[in-house]
Amino acid sequence: ITGLRDIFLSKEEYLNQEVCVSGWVRSNRDSKNFGFLTISDGTFFTPLQVVYHDEMANFGEIAKLGVGAAVIVSGKLIPTPEAKQEFELQAVEISVEGETQPDYPLQKKRHSLEYLRTIPHLRPRTNTFQAVFRIRSQIAYAIHSFFQERGFVYVHTPLITASDAEGAGEMFEVTTLPLNDVPMKDGCVDYSEDFFGKKTSLTVSGQLNGEAFAQAFRDIYTFGPTFRAEKSNTQRHAAEFWMIEPEMAFADLDDVMFIAEDMLKYIIQYVLVNAPEELEFLNQFVDKGLLERLQHIVKSDFARVSYTESVEMLEKVNDRFEYKVKWGSDLQTEHERYLTEEIYKCPVFVTDYPKDIKSFYMKLNEDGKTVAAVDCLVPGIGEIIGGSQREDDLDKLTKRMQELNMNMEDYQFYLDLRKYGSTRHGGFGLGFERAVMYITGMSNIRDVLPFPRTVGNCEL
Ligand code: 4AD
Ligand code: MG
Repeated sequence: ITGLRDIFLSKEEYLNQEVCVSGWVRSNRDSKNFGFLTISDGTFFTPLQVVYHDEMANFGEIAKLGVGAAVIVSGKLIPTPEAKQEFELQAVEISVEGETQPDYPLQKKRHSLEYLRTIPHLRPRTNTFQAVFRIRSQIAYAIHSFFQERGFVYVHTPLITASDAEGAGEMFEVTTLPLNDVPMKDGCVDYSEDFFGKKTSLTVSGQLNGEAFAQAFRDIYTFGPTFRAEKSNTQRHAAEFWMIEPEMAFADLDDVMFIAEDMLKYIIQYVLVNAPEELEFLNQFVDKGLLERLQHIVKSDFARVSYTESVEMLEKVNDRFEYKVKWGSDLQTEHERYLTEEIYKCPVFVTDYPKDIKSFYMKLNEDGKTVAAVDCLVPGIGEIIGGSQREDDLDKLTKRMQELNMNMEDYQFYLDLRKYGSTRHGGFGLGFERAVMYITGMSNIRDVLPFPRTVGNCEL
């Protein structure tokens, strides 16, 4: 059985030939003695038109087939120069692999994204989600290619952890169901209280483990799930999301920004080349300016501005904001979006934030007030990347952690990295779903996660 992707991408090989394809019915129109099916097999965005005639023994059965039925069709692929589609399949035989029912929710009309969220197991069959999830897959592949081509080592960091990498306390605790009184098979460890002998949580970031590997391999990246129990029920926050975290030894904040910009352009370019049908569809039905925007980004430079300069600009238009900006407070999404949408109209790196609104591990700047942090903000979303140069001085880091009352025992390994051959180093975290939103034009994170987990929602 040939995939539609093969047929559409190498049509010269298939035209005027016998082929056998499979797929699901998207529409079915029948006249007295012939009819048209459009079928999609999920391998290619564009569906295939199938023509069938009453010479087929099961013509009656096919004419009654509903949307969503699974079929296998063999016949001849014929060019149709006058028609809307370039070619069609003239069926010789159609066998029904799986019937459908009249209450199939995805009849041939447009459904709202809100409604489709209630059927996460069926929505991948729709055009919008075909486009989104193929692009999601391509972005993942492009990210690996980008880092692998540059010699970065892919590190799998643990999902269960005893440290809070961001120090924000927004973690899901890991506990076991009651372990009864079954004795431990080997050895005599009593794990009836805490399986690991201490409190553990799901990771909020692989960075601290990533740093350990960067101090051995120089350039590494992680790419895996992260979990945050943030009290943010917004279009951009999920409780379970994926993050890409490169970490580089012998690198400073400029290197971090350079690689972040290069990476974003690389993945956008990859999708422009490899998902043209999907982008065309999204550009038409989801976000009218999408294609033009993506094409522009790969060719232009990202802007750079310090936090302090940003605050000065934003304070001038403070009457526009719900939260007033002042030096020392974190930028809210409304401020981030104003900077990138109204002032720069392109992605922006904001650097050197006040130390008190950023994580403990960031390198203190000469001024003693700010840290070598960088956020990358993009139009339509706001923060897509957060990164920094790390504090590599053992004394300064120890002092900062003590100031924050952190439990030093849990982070001994992290301090060791500053004790033995410490290097200037840094990295960033790209929110994978935010990147997918940016590149597909989707405006809700729930629509770029296959099975989203957000406050109050853990279906399927
Ligand atoms: O800015 P964050 O918190 O940075 C870190 O976790 C660092 N350890 C990264 C590093 O330097 N290695 O998170 C990084 C990115 C954010 O910019 C955002 O895109 C995404 O992760 N993110 C979320 N995405 C979806 N839902 C959430 N709840 C998110 N929280 C952060
Ligand atoms: Mg951040």
